[in-house]
Amino acid sequence: MLFRDAQAKTIHLKDYHAPDYLIDKTVLRIQLKDDETLVTAALSMRRAQPDRKGGSNELTLDGQELELRKVSIDNTELDPANYGVTADSLIISSVPDVFELETVVATKPQNNTSLEGLYKSSKMYCTQCEAEGFRKITYYLDRPDVMAEFITTIEADKKRYPILLSNGNPVAQGELENGRHWATWHDPFKKPAYLFAMVAGDLACIEDSFTTMSGRDIDLRIYVEDKDVDKCDHAMASLKSAMTWDEEVYGREYDLELFMVVAVDDFNMGAMENKGLNIFNTSCVFAKPETTTDAGFQRVEAVVAHEYFHNWSGNRVTCRDWFQLSLKEGFTVFRDAEFSADMGSPTVKRVEDVNLLRTMQFAEDGGPTAHPVQPASFMEISNFYTLTIYEKGSEIVRMIHALLGAEQFRAGSDLYFERHDGQAVTIEDFVAAMSEVSGREFGQFQNWYRQAGTPRLAITGDYNAADKIYRLDIKQTCPATPECEKKAPFLIPLRMGLLGSEGDLPLFLEGKANGETELVLEITEGEQTIIFEQVYEQPVPSFLRGFSAPVKLDFAYSRDDLVQLMSRDSDGFNRWEACNQLALGVLQELVSAYLAGTELSLDKRLIEAYRGLLTDPTTDKAMVALMLNLPTEAYLSEVAEVIEVEAIHQARQFARRTLGQVLEDEFMAVYQANDAQLKDQPYVASGEQIAMRSLKNTALAYLTQGGSAMALEFASEQFQCADNMTDSSAALAALVNSLAANEGGMAEAALQDFYQRWQDEPLVVNLWFQLQAWCLLPGGLDRVLALLEHEAFDISNPNKVRAVIAAFGMGNAINFHTADGAGYTFLTDQIITLNKLNPQIASRLVTPLTKWRKYPPQRAELMKAQLERLLGEPALSKDVYEIVNKSLA
Ligand code: TRP
Ligand code: ZN
Repeated sequence: MLFRDAQAKTIHLKDYHAPDYLIDKTVLRIQLKDDETLVTAALSMRRAQPDRKGGSNELTLDGQELELRKVSIDNTELDPANYGVTADSLIISSVPDVFELETVVATKPQNNTSLEGLYKSSKMYCTQCEAEGFRKITYYLDRPDVMAEFITTIEADKKRYPILLSNGNPVAQGELENGRHWATWHDPFKKPAYLFAMVAGDLACIEDSFTTMSGRDIDLRIYVEDKDVDKCDHAMASLKSAMTWDEEVYGREYDLELFMVVAVDDFNMGAMENKGLNIFNTSCVFAKPETTTDAGFQRVEAVVAHEYFHNWSGNRVTCRDWFQLSLKEGFTVFRDAEFSADMGSPTVKRVEDVNLLRTMQFAEDGGPTAHPVQPASFMEISNFYTLTIYEKGSEIVRMIHALLGAEQFRAGSDLYFERHDGQAVTIEDFVAAMSEVSGREFGQFQNWYRQAGTPRLAITGDYNAADKIYRLDIKQTCPATPECEKKAPFLIPLRMGLLGSEGDLPLFLEGKANGETELVLEITEGEQTIIFEQVYEQPVPSFLRGFSAPVKLDFAYSRDDLVQLMSRDSDGFNRWEACNQLALGVLQELVSAYLAGTELSLDKRLIEAYRGLLTDPTTDKAMVALMLNLPTEAYLSEVAEVIEVEAIHQARQFARRTLGQVLEDEFMAVYQANDAQLKDQPYVASGEQIAMRSLKNTALAYLTQGGSAMALEFASEQFQCADNMTDSSAALAALVNSLAANEGGMAEAALQDFYQRWQDEPLVVNLWFQLQAWCLLPGGLDRVLALLEHEAFDISNPNKVRAVIAAFGMGNAINFHTADGAGYTFLTDQIITLNKLNPQIASRLVTPLTKWRKYPPQRAELMKAQLERLLGEPALSKDVYEIVNKSLA
């Protein structure tokens, strides 16, 4: 038979067709042995449309890196003349309408560094099948619209692998000779192969239980290595909160009797929602005050919830094809964001999410890898686990929620889950359910799914004092993106109010508002005019409250307007936003001054605004801490036309230093007050304490940047005495970034101390790596090169790669973008190494280089040259090729 090579080809949504064959039942036997693993797959298959006349009887199964040992149909071994194997498939020339297919393949998981399919992480075997990893385990119809019941038997050495797990419920187990044993699992819910999982290892188990709303008892288990059993309480508590929340808010109950989580060290992403057997990156499970920061605690809670929520939004109702990825990811991110908001402060959570969206997703949307939330094509699906699919996808669901209101949205989700339970469906099916329960038309709204790019609203306001009329002229545009030049207008829900001298003004808008103080305008046209009546004073408009749509908004606020909004807007998010805009304007002005070579001076209004925040005891501490965070260099870069790395860095450092100096007393007072208060209570990762620590450590960073000698003492004492990782790592970061602490040897001593203390905790060592990779002092590349040589660094572990290489490339612009291009060459070297080991991780590392067009010509050329170097690399993975190719197009 014909042999073909796997090649990089583009797959299009418009070419989707339903599968020709289905698999009703998948019976696997996985024999784990040191030299090789044997996988026997017995598939009960049938033709999808048996009455269809014509067509061929050829069957093509997906499979990669497999050694085929045997293939039989209905117990008759096939003659090699009747099948063929290519680099990515097994083709059988003729099959009956209904048949049993059995294959035996051999694989070598011990050599699998891609962390996709079956692989080893430290001493255990584990799997990662989303999106297309199952084809590296056995020949299969590896597509989400082929759903089967799975029965899985795992066989391994009993001593080294006492725990054998797979999806569903355990049904049998037994002993074999030579010290081997086996266990069989049955998953009664039909599922696509990407939700398959198995684990074998020597694992300890933390157990708990949950009683569902209908009174069923669910056994909850978290499996980890023995040394880590003391780090699982928070994950377990988070799981139970998530289960309760999903019952209360969505009426969704867990379905199996058993829910398992396994933590592994080597993992490409955060975690995976395999049915009944979630596999997690240790970084998203472990949490203990001494070793985990507050941010770490919050991430564990969010990711545990996210994966749990997938049991309905993803597993019970799954995706028809990978173009629908956001169907499960956007919806599930929205669900976990609402959960986190309910567990803590909704405004804080919203600010954090919007910051991520506006910094990272907007940058993606404005660059060469921009794609719609429902992409029209892709080469390598692993490249599409993006901020656009996840975060923008979630924003779209949030807009639907806002347009429908909580009650109708719940009715829509009920209908969606009920109607499509057990099915593989599309984004359109989700929207149709929402449309049906509300009677609302979603035609134009769906442009959000089909068009890439961040829409921009340009608004001008005009107050006519004589007629008491306030007129808004609103223009929406959306820049061209690779897949589409001219955009149709979006439906943009613009939540807004008008601020007067005494607070929110009543709004009078024909047919829309009759005295309410807030409304949601639906912007649908390229140009629209809105006229408010009975406006008795010149208002300050408050637009996009709660960030009601993922857009950029231009309105010519004066700085005084922003100061007003910052202290008096009734919307908490917009109070933060006003502060953010104020600081952004001030920083942009400093950037221009730096470029013009004029002296830098900081606008007093920002200083006074910050002073107000620091001295006003009524403002929520978490909000104060957020508002005191100046817009990041990454955000300044995103909003810039051309990214002037030096100017941005120097402007922001100047502002930090100046604020630290001018407000030294205020920062000092805030530091001491919160520090004293915290010392009286044992650590908990509660919202209140997290806010205090965040405020205190923000103050500490300003003070050390300002050069206060006393602050260095505070940092050093906090570093030595802290009983929790938040304070300890914040103090260490303050020392590491302080010139004085470096010159005095204090920073180096603290770093050594820290490593000595935590060298046996890989996740803490990662914090230690990251904080050094992020050090903004000169000499960054040399520091990073030294870290790569460190005994604890391991390029085959994605967490380590993220902590050192990605942290440097994406979080340390001033050191990465040196004028000689050394940072670019370094990153490219690493990508080339990783391209062979782990293409998914290699491909993600290309991100900073993809933005080359936004840099001044000299740097742009240097970045581009490295992309071209990558393109010339032999054996470039599909993953890296796709991103590089798009970046140069
Ligand atoms: N579905 C996973 C999530 O919840 C994403 C994921 C986990 C993933 N591991 C992966 C995607 C590996 C691609 C490759 O978000
Ligand atoms: Zn997910």
